[in-house]
Amino acid sequence: MAAHERFHYQSLEEIQAQARALHTDLNFASDLSPLARPVKVGSKTAPNSFAVLPMEGCDSNPDGSPSELVTRRYTRFAAGGSGLLWWEACAVTDEGRANELSMMLTKDNVGAFARLVDTARKAASDANGADHKPLHILQLTHSGRYSRPVGHSPAPIVPQHDPILDPRVGLSPDAPVITDGYLDDLIGKYVQSALLAREAGFDGVDLKACHRYLVSELLASHTRPGRYGGSFENRTRFLRETLKAVRSAVGPDFIIACRFNVFDAHPYPYGFGCDHQDMWKFDPAEPMALVKMLCENGIDLLSNSAGNPYYIYPQVTRPFDLSSMGIPTPEEHPLESCARLFDFTRQIQAAAGSVPVVGNGYSWLRQFAPHAGAANLADGSCAFMGLGRSSFAYPDAPRDVLTRGFMDPGKCCITCSKCTQIMRDHGRTGCVVRDADLYAPLYRQARADAQRRETHG
Ligand SMILES: Cc1cc2nc3c(=O)[nH]c(=O)nc-3n(C[C@H](O)[C@H](O)[C@H](O)COP(=O)(O)O)c2cc1C
Ligand code: SF4
Repeated sequence: MAAHERFHYQSLEEIQAQARALHTDLNFASDLSPLARPVKVGSKTAPNSFAVLPMEGCDSNPDGSPSELVTRRYTRFAAGGSGLLWWEACAVTDEGRANELSMMLTKDNVGAFARLVDTARKAASDANGADHKPLHILQLTHSGRYSRPVGHSPAPIVPQHDPILDPRVGLSPDAPVITDGYLDDLIGKYVQSALLAREAGFDGVDLKACHRYLVSELLASHTRPGRYGGSFENRTRFLRETLKAVRSAVGPDFIIACRFNVFDAHPYPYGFGCDHQDMWKFDPAEPMALVKMLCENGIDLLSNSAGNPYYIYPQVTRPFDLSSMGIPTPEEHPLESCARLFDFTRQIQAAAGSVPVVGNGYSWLRQFAPHAGAANLADGSCAFMGLGRSSFAYPDAPRDVLTRGFMDPGKCCITCSKCTQIMRDHGRTGCVVRDADLYAPLYRQARADAQRRETHG
């Protein structure tokens, strides 16, 4: 691995040369036309190959319904021109919310979600033409270890103990883990939420299994006894049974997606997709078997992510220039971090066959991201190019690429991690740099509140 560096490239040739010098297999195409390709997802079609990745704002109303900030975010995302909007983490139970203002869809607020989906559809066609009808997928989640439904104290719900992660959420080694009965009942909550999402007008739901939230940690629960732990068959049981139950409730035409961690960068017996001796070495056997299992059970759409954004290696999830507070500078070049994410997507897409896979890890590449996305689409390494932080910073990037052929470097995300810092400080998040009028004051307020809590407890 090479030394970490901040982004400093002025031309496509320069970044290509650096990628070659680092011996990565990153490719950059000059022909961006693959990004305009429609993509078939289940029985529906996305109008182009751009996807907004799920980006939570921690800013819903207390009952989980969309606030003004949420409405603003999805209106901007929709107007931006992407073919697919993958909506943020939306809790299926109160105790599984990641914060007091995390999104949650209930029978009492389904009408508010329906209005926002309509507003977003209108914003998409107003800005991009009447024929532009992006797909809307809602990410369903249980935050598990990272649940914090009330106030500022963690309220972890874990499927197994983990000596590295337990102390970080204040969990004692003898605290109870969730029962098999809890997980059996939880399947019904996913079904309920999926039915509500369909009622609200979404095109589909994602059974979130990434970033070490509950379902992601279940995939790695080697030490858990009983029906949901130990063997691969048992560790994937919850996801498999939930997929079957949701499919039987929603029918064949509603999209079911899965965003899952292909690689946890966490040691055995607590990590998924990692070599048992070397946690930094990817072991594809189980992730590929998982893809096969999901495809055999009728998944329509996949997105692979990796890593644990709450731990000390967030570059595995999102390559960055500057880290959030308390996070060490990675001992790898961000181009190597991007290449690792692209390689995972390439392998997952090969295993998934005709099931489309959304790639991620592009924001660090700034204005050169569409060139990497187009290269990955052209050689079949993914079906969508997904943009996370870039969507906060520069929601119109897809439209600029599709209509003008480039991204404006002055509008790109600079991967400064300030949006992550707001989350860590328990504030409402967005782009502090490119959407500064709104989010710079929210950043300062969340920082001051967090410092006050640290000082006064
Ligand atoms: C502030 C913030 C919120 C995020 N929220 C979610 C989320 O709700 N669900 C999810 O799967 N990923 C979430 N992510 C991860 C992104 O979807 C994405 O995988 C990651 O940022 C890498 O993509 P990028 O390099 O384009 O930003 C979040 C990331 C950030 C920085
Ligand atoms: S605050 Fe803005 S510029 Fe900084 S990482 Fe987040 S989206 Fe990018």
